[in-house]
Amino acid sequence: MSLQQKLTQFAKLDLIKAFTPLSRLDNLSKKYGREIYIKRDDMTPLAMGGNKLRKLEYLIADAQAKNAKTIVTAGAIQSNHVRQTAAIAAMYGLECVALLENPIQSDNPNFLNNGNKLLTDLFAARCVMCDELIDPQAQMEELIKELKLEDAYIVPVGGSNALGALGYIQCAIEIAHQKPSHIEFDKIIVASGSAGTHAGLAIGIHELLPQSQVIGVTVSRKQQDQAPKVEKLQNELTHLLDLSEAPKIQLWDDFFAPMYGMPNHLGLKAIQLLAQKEGILLDPVYTGKAMAGLIHYLETSSEKTPVLFVHTGGAQALFAYSDISQTIK
Ligand SMILES: Cc1ncc(COP(=O)(O)O)c(C=O)c1O
Repeated sequence: MSLQQKLTQFAKLDLIKAFTPLSRLDNLSKKYGREIYIKRDDMTPLAMGGNKLRKLEYLIADAQAKNAKTIVTAGAIQSNHVRQTAAIAAMYGLECVALLENPIQSDNPNFLNNGNKLLTDLFAARCVMCDELIDPQAQMEELIKELKLEDAYIVPVGGSNALGALGYIQCAIEIAHQKPSHIEFDKIIVASGSAGTHAGLAIGIHELLPQSQVIGVTVSRKQQDQAPKVEKLQNELTHLLDLSEAPKIQLWDDFFAPMYGMPNHLGLKAIQLLAQKEGILLDPVYTGKAMAGLIHYLETSSEKTPVLFVHTGGAQALFAYSDISQTIK
């Protein structure tokens, strides 16, 4: 049975009707003298795009099968995941309750109200603040009791359980179809946060394009803490899809300091480069840092093999981090 056939065993909404674009970055390819491509998952068709829709197609189908009336999820104030979950809940007439933290303790009005938060409010999610998401699953269960929510369905942080991660196996299938026949991607670079995107992509690519290595660039935690999260999801996916083996986990973790949600210089330079060379918008929390990892590799490696960057979205947060424009100049 093909990987695509295996995926059809799982109920899924049908919101992504066409492949997201995969295109060559002409100016970056010229600058670094090698083939550099981008997969545009920032262009998925809901609520200004992003990687979470692929996961939510499976998770919300599961919620519907369980007759849920309320979707409960959690994340940072500027969470792209919460924005996309709020939008899909609105679309399907479900209530959305979001437990939010302020990971960088910012009191900047744009951080508190603009960007993703503005959109999450527009989708009418009920936002509840907490000091810190230490054990989000337990905190969400507690919130369900507190608010006496009936028929609630918990979407984990980032939509990252095995069911959600199936969405990134679908993305790997798309990449295998779209890849120009003369190009073999040596490395495929993606931001690795709650890990579902990384794990799904790595499993799918390992099955379909085994010569390509998926590399996750950490955005939240060091390699020794991130690897077990990716490994757990990869093992669950291998089991769920009856595959023989999971790929070796590859992480770069020099690009997220000082912490999750806090912009850094290399990330900002990467945002600037992509904007000014390619007219593409990255974000300061995920894709800017992942691109900083790729740029570092391009600048320090003597290899000239083709690479692919998976753009997972997030540019909405630029409006929340409006003060960064001062830092980039
Ligand atoms: C824009 C963006 N890129 C990448 C990620 C990381 O994906 P994952 O949480 O599946 O590791 C996220 C997660 O929220 C995101 O919002």
